[in-house]
Amino acid sequence: MRGIVYTGEGVEVSDELAVRDPGPKEVRIGVRAAGVCHSDLSVINGTIPWTPPAVLGHEGAGVVEAVGADVASVKVGDHVVVATLASCGTCRACSTGHPTWCRRSLGNVSAPFTYKGEPASNFAAASVFAESTVIQEVQAVRIPKDIPFTSACLIGCGVLTGVGSVLNRARVRPGETAAVFGVGGVGLNVIQGLRIAGATRIVAVDTVAAKEDLGRQFGATDFVDASTGDAAAAIRALVPPNRESAAGSLSPMGGVTWAFECVGHPAVLRSALDALDWGGTAVAIGVPPRGSEVAVDVNALAYVDRSLLGCRYGAARPHHDIPLMVDLYRSGALLLDELVSLTRPLEAFREVVDEMHSGRVARGVLLFD
Ligand SMILES: NC(=O)c1ccc[n+]([C@@H]2O[C@H](COP(=O)([O-])OP(=O)(O)OC[C@H]3O[C@@H](n4cnc5c(N)ncnc54)[C@H](O)[C@@H]3O)[C@@H](O)[C@H]2O)c1
Ligand SMILES: [Zn+2]
Ligand SMILES: [Zn+2]
Repeated sequence: MRGIVYTGEGVEVSDELAVRDPGPKEVRIGVRAAGVCHSDLSVINGTIPWTPPAVLGHEGAGVVEAVGADVASVKVGDHVVVATLASCGTCRACSTGHPTWCRRSLGNVSAPFTYKGEPASNFAAASVFAESTVIQEVQAVRIPKDIPFTSACLIGCGVLTGVGSVLNRARVRPGETAAVFGVGGVGLNVIQGLRIAGATRIVAVDTVAAKEDLGRQFGATDFVDASTGDAAAAIRALVPPNRESAAGSLSPMGGVTWAFECVGHPAVLRSALDALDWGGTAVAIGVPPRGSEVAVDVNALAYVDRSLLGCRYGAARPHHDIPLMVDLYRSGALLLDELVSLTRPLEAFREVVDEMHSGRVARGVLLFD
């Protein structure tokens, strides 16, 4: 079987992979389409440490090929989006609707694959850069058969992460203002989440000027080119303050209620904090190298009710949120087809990565036929 393997030195597009049969509560998926998320690239460049060999990919959709003896919620032939949360379903976090807090959902690596005859592990409990993968039943979320796989696959990470950060974590309300740092696959979904939530000013920020058109297509009202100067100052100049700040106060005038960091760089997170109005909150979504820290002037938080939130996987409850994304897509509120700027066969993985680095794509999608 074909797939993309992280070898420790880099990646290989290989046809020397095999996957085992599903266990009692597992499902084998025939992957049809998979989006390339920056987190896959972060494994390859060492930002996210992962033990090789491992099969990459965690944003996928496909068809159920086989089910374990105890699987009841899906059957062979169903179309599914693969959720990356292999949550247990019974712990206190799962029982209170917070599967992203389930301890079993992080670091539960298994090795359902062999690569050149040796065990190979999965990545993000998904490994959708392979013709077939084995996942837990809880991760297979059924979708209607008329939703194209190329669009549906993006729900599995970028859409849930971006839209979920706005609707589930921040709970943005109509009339609030926001800045979105990084107009990539995740950032574009934060932008459209903000549009859906009724935010009235949505400032997109990127170092690639060509991202302005994409940002505006998804709902941005303004664009700041972060390569040309202080993005936070530009945002504060654009968005009026919610109250007059006295001359010489701790806080300069202006700023947004929400600032989403979708790049994965501590300096960008600091810029997001600096772009906040009084009462504003920065949301850390991007994943920098382990041990990264950000310095904050505590008084700039404490005196004026600013906050910093982390957000994993859009605080998603996949069995609620994936059908919701499908409904929003059908209603026209959620753009999915427009996110797919490039489709290529699995073998052209490196070309997709190059296009991502160039800043030309919203999402590149790998196809498996
Ligand atoms: N928290 C989570 O659950 C979660 C889920 C998915 C992805 N992520 C992380 O989110 C981040 C973004 O992922 P993606 O797939 O959207 O990446 P992407 O490569 O598609 O997009 C990144 C964007 O950031 C822009 N950028 C780079 N440097 C910048 C800077 N200094 N200022 C402003 N913009 C800048 C790039 O031009 C690009 O448009 C990554 O760190 C990824 O690992 C986190
Ligand atoms: Zn991802
Ligand atoms: Zn749990």
